[in-house]
Amino acid sequence: MTQLLPLTEDQVAIRDTARAFADEHVRPFAAQWDRDSHFEPTLIKKLGDLGFLGMLLPTEYDGLGLDAQSYLFALEEIAKADASVAVMMSVHNSLPTQMLKTFGSEAQKQRFLKPMARGELLGAFALSEPDAGSDASAIRAQATRDGDDWILEGTKAWVTSGTHAGVIIAMVRTDTPEARRKSKGISAFILTPDLPGFRVSKKEDKMGLRASPTVQLVFDRMRVPGDRLLGEEGQGFIYAMNSLEHGRLGIAAQAIGIAQAALDAAVDYANERQQFGTPIAEFQGIQFKLADMATRIAAARALLHGVAATKDRGAALGAACSMAKLFASETAMWVTTQAVQVFGGYGYVKEYPVEKYFRDAKVTEIYEGTSEVQRIVIGRAVSAGM
Ligand code: CAA
Repeated sequence: MTQLLPLTEDQVAIRDTARAFADEHVRPFAAQWDRDSHFEPTLIKKLGDLGFLGMLLPTEYDGLGLDAQSYLFALEEIAKADASVAVMMSVHNSLPTQMLKTFGSEAQKQRFLKPMARGELLGAFALSEPDAGSDASAIRAQATRDGDDWILEGTKAWVTSGTHAGVIIAMVRTDTPEARRKSKGISAFILTPDLPGFRVSKKEDKMGLRASPTVQLVFDRMRVPGDRLLGEEGQGFIYAMNSLEHGRLGIAAQAIGIAQAALDAAVDYANERQQFGTPIAEFQGIQFKLADMATRIAAARALLHGVAATKDRGAALGAACSMAKLFASETAMWVTTQAVQVFGGYGYVKEYPVEKYFRDAKVTEIYEGTSEVQRIVIGRAVSAGM
């Protein structure tokens, strides 16, 4: 139903490239990766060779220089095949690379951004901590100056791709415990796993997105050179919030991909499955479900691409990004629930794909800001006259 949106020839080409890639390199393996909680590391190079790890970066930094809509169409295609691969792509393209592009020095861009665009270094984003999730400015990881270096101490949680990341943008306090400055006391650092004192610790055993490794990172008196500070000291929270706007559009596309895959599976099944002597697709109860699923997906996609098109024209839109993410993720959860219902008992077993879509959909209502956090952002903007 993407044809409801007026795609340019270039956008169609990118979407079709992503679809072909997903058909060959992702979909056939997704169920097994899910069963084994296996992250497939060769995908980093394959996606990098295609340019899909530098989709939004300018060509001077080895990116594809695409518009947000093309990127989101591609992401939806990958998510249809496997939401785990999509989140790796979304986090990399939306968070660490955007932060480096927007706030990094020229030297930092040459050193980190270019190899990230080529897929030689995978990116991760470390904001949350075990005791600081929705209240992101309550983080406690601490950086203290030591000559030209910084010494970092603390634990980051829920870090997507943390096991394989070559570059992690981490938000860490640079104020002092005696003079806390809430969001103004947080700075962003460019970390690499070779830094002494860096350790990947607990890997989460998750309900869904099982092929995407989510880990804690421990900074144990980790020495970080001064030139790894990203942008200005004390601006890390603002940078993180800014990049999460991009991130939330990516998660919306991921959610739409999951929902579309669930609808496609439900349609195929409803046409095949015979009960009472007829395919169940003939029953109005099923048809109405399919109609509502398709309508909600089309609405989520139209909202997302309306926001993305406005962003491509350079308008600032924090709350609209939250709207797109909120609506798409709740659509994904609702649609995948209906898909399980259409499949009946077969929807509840691992022999069919819809139980995976249902499990994968849930996290889109949680990460990169829960639905409640999106409502806070939207509510504040609306009450301020958005
Ligand atoms: N762009 C730029 N600046 C922003 C901003 C944005 N989008 N949002 C807020 N700010 C600025 C504010 O203007 C404010 O600056 P001033 O003090 O100068 O006015 C400052 O940041 C503090 O903002 P708030 O007072 O609004 O902060 P808050 O403490 O009330 O928190 C919140 C607001 C929306 C709840 C925020 O904490 C939030 O988004 N929480 C959720 C965090 C989140 O999404 N975490 C996901 C982590 S990533 C992940 O999920 C894992 C993964 O890898 C996929």
